[in-house]
Amino acid sequence: MACLSFLPHILQASAYIILFISFILSSFSNPVQSQCKNPPVIFNFGDSNSDTGGLVAGLGYPINLPNGRTFFRRSTGRLSDGRLILDFLCQSVNTRFLSPYLDSVGSSFLNGANFAIAGSRLLPKYEPFALNIQVLQFLHFKGRSIELVSAGSGNLVGDEGFRNALFMIDIGQNDLADSFAKNLSYTEVVKMIPSFVTEIRNAIQVIYSQGGRKFWVHNTGPLGCLPQKLTLAQKVSSDLDPHGCLANYNSAAKLFNEGLQHLLQELRSEMKDATIVYVDIYAIKYDLIANSSSYGFSNPLMACCGYGGPPYNYRKGVTCGQHDYQVCSEGSEFISWDGVHYTETANRVIASKILSMDYSTPRIGFDFFCH
Ligand SMILES: *[C@@H]1O[C@H](CO)[C@@H](O)[C@H](O)[C@H]1NC(C)=O
Ligand SMILES: *[C@@H]1O[C@H](CO)[C@@H](O)[C@H](O)[C@H]1NC(C)=O
Repeated sequence: MACLSFLPHILQASAYIILFISFILSSFSNPVQSQCKNPPVIFNFGDSNSDTGGLVAGLGYPINLPNGRTFFRRSTGRLSDGRLILDFLCQSVNTRFLSPYLDSVGSSFLNGANFAIAGSRLLPKYEPFALNIQVLQFLHFKGRSIELVSAGSGNLVGDEGFRNALFMIDIGQNDLADSFAKNLSYTEVVKMIPSFVTEIRNAIQVIYSQGGRKFWVHNTGPLGCLPQKLTLAQKVSSDLDPHGCLANYNSAAKLFNEGLQHLLQELRSEMKDATIVYVDIYAIKYDLIANSSSYGFSNPLMACCGYGGPPYNYRKGVTCGQHDYQVCSEGSEFISWDGVHYTETANRVIASKILSMDYSTPRIGFDFFCH
């Protein structure tokens, strides 16, 4: 009998526990918050890490299923099974996924535009779709939008929208990757880093001179942990770090990031009225790989979609969505989707870490740009 009197307490306690667990789960699995009443207009520049369909729109390059299978259930031109980091960040401030600037069918640009295109680099300039071209496209987009808005169009961003817009940049990975792919030595790759970083300076300066005051810049991830690089690079075991990644590729990525961080520090003192946030994507992604099992991932260096099985499941010419590839059944157990890009599950964890502010310099949240 005595035991029974505990029952309500036990029930109550377990209700709390269930509530607590579902709170943890929802805050972990769903970085989406609904506090943001007035989301910022967002313009994004970059490569495949944030391409929401630009390559397909711009070059007609086919990106097939199983890309997109998890969330969209069709291919959207994103190189992932689902959403990208950018998509999760957009959702966190209650704004729709960004339309690719080049997508002429069914696009809305009222909440901004995405200029990122898979494969894009910082250098050489004036080669599609280098960052400087993306910025030129933005200038065209801005001029044309303002012209149309003053002629009465209500479906585009106006003057004030541009002034308050958030400008996001995530680029540099392909510059480092291509340099290594061309057989440049580590020292030669490192020598090129300042010229890469200068291109980001140029982009921010142009946007600033056009009235942009809010910048959100992602650094580059651990290039040497990508299954594609691990497969294709000539390597001996001493080239690998304790987590099995290519040490010199990662060192180059870290040097690029140091240069980028230093640049943004300089720009903050030159542009006193600007907010410039640096986000340490490298640390987030490397933590995911180093501590993969605690995040629920089983094979941190193996692609879900590719060919050849362990250790990397990557083969040139048999890549995801092309011919004869094999795809895992549970993408949520993998960090790497196709050997280069991350799975939706990994992107979601990365986005929730970004939203934690722990990786931002200065410590500013993404929803800071809601007004
Ligand atoms: C790079 O160097 C390796 C060995 O030094 C050679 O086998 C390979 O063909 C080279 N690749 C290119 C693209 O030059
Ligand atoms: C792995 O997790 C531990 C414990 O949270 C942390 O101290 C460590 O820095 C992580 N490793 C990396 C590479 O981030």
